[in-house]
Amino acid sequence: MPVKPRQIGPCFAAEVEGVDLTRPLSPEDVAAIHAGMDEYAVLVFHDQPLDDEQQLAFSRSLGELEHAVGTSLRAPEEYRLPTTFADVSNLDKNQQVFARDDRRRLFAIGNRLWHSDSSFKVVPAKYSLLHARRVPSKGGNTEFADMRAAYDALDDETRKEIEDLICEHSQIFSRQQLGFFDFTDEERERFKPVRQRLVRTHPSTGCRSLYLASHAGAIVGWPVPEARAFLRDLTEHATQRQFVYAHKWTVGDLVMWDNRRTMHRARPFPVHEPRDMRRTTLVGEKTV
Ligand SMILES: [Fe+2]
Repeated sequence: MPVKPRQIGPCFAAEVEGVDLTRPLSPEDVAAIHAGMDEYAVLVFHDQPLDDEQQLAFSRSLGELEHAVGTSLRAPEEYRLPTTFADVSNLDKNQQVFARDDRRRLFAIGNRLWHSDSSFKVVPAKYSLLHARRVPSKGGNTEFADMRAAYDALDDETRKEIEDLICEHSQIFSRQQLGFFDFTDEERERFKPVRQRLVRTHPSTGCRSLYLASHAGAIVGWPVPEARAFLRDLTEHATQRQFVYAHKWTVGDLVMWDNRRTMHRARPFPVHEPRDMRRTTLVGEKTV
C-alpha cells in the first residue's frame, strides 16, 4: 500500500505516516512521494532515526544529489560533513557550537531570511531534505511560504509586469541585508550573481509560481533601488501568514520541500545550544 500524505496547516503542507525511511523504498512508494510533492510542496515525516548513509540512500532514491562545495564560509578542511550534505548546524568539525561572533555563524544567519535553496547557483535546487539530529530547547522553527498561492493571489497587472523579468541572485545580496559585508576577493568571485526567472512554471504540474529569495538583489534592466523595493514588496506579499506553514522540529523529523515553488526561513534559537540539522538536496533545473 503506497504512502499517502495527509494535509496539515495550509494546503501546501502534508504529513506522511506509515513509511520507514531507514529502509529502501518500493518503486510505488517513491512514485507516491513524488506525487505527494506535486500535490503539496512540503512533506513532513516524523520518527525517522536516520543516519547519514540512510539519509543519502533515501535522497538518492528520489533524484540526483547536489553537492555543497564552496557555498558557505567553512573552508574545506573545516567541513564537519561530507559534501553530499549541506551542514545547516551551528557546529564546527569538533561538534562545538560556534562562538557568537564566529564569521561562519554570522554568514549562516542569512538562512533566517526568506529564501529558496541554491537559487544563487546556475542550476538551483529541486527538493531539500532536512533531518533533525539535535534541536534546541526552544525556537529554531522553519517556516515555509507557498509561492504558487502567492503568485495566484497577484492581480493581473502585476502578473503581466513580472512575467519575463530576470533577477540576479547571490549570497552577497542576502548577507548585505543583514549588514554582513565582510567578504574576501576570493569569496566575492565565488559568490558572483547568477540569473533566475522571477516567474517559474513547474515542470510536473505546469503551475506558475513566484521564484523569490533574499539572494535576489537586482532585476535585469531595472535601477537597483527600484528593483530591491519591488522585490521586497513581492516578498512581503508572498509571506503573509495565510501562505505560511511553520514547522516545529522534533528529533527524527525529516521535512522535504520543493524549492521551485516555496521559500523558507529558519527562526532564531538560543545562541549557545547545539542545533544539528543535516540537509541533502536534489539538483533542479535551470530557469534561464
Ligand atoms: Fe535553506
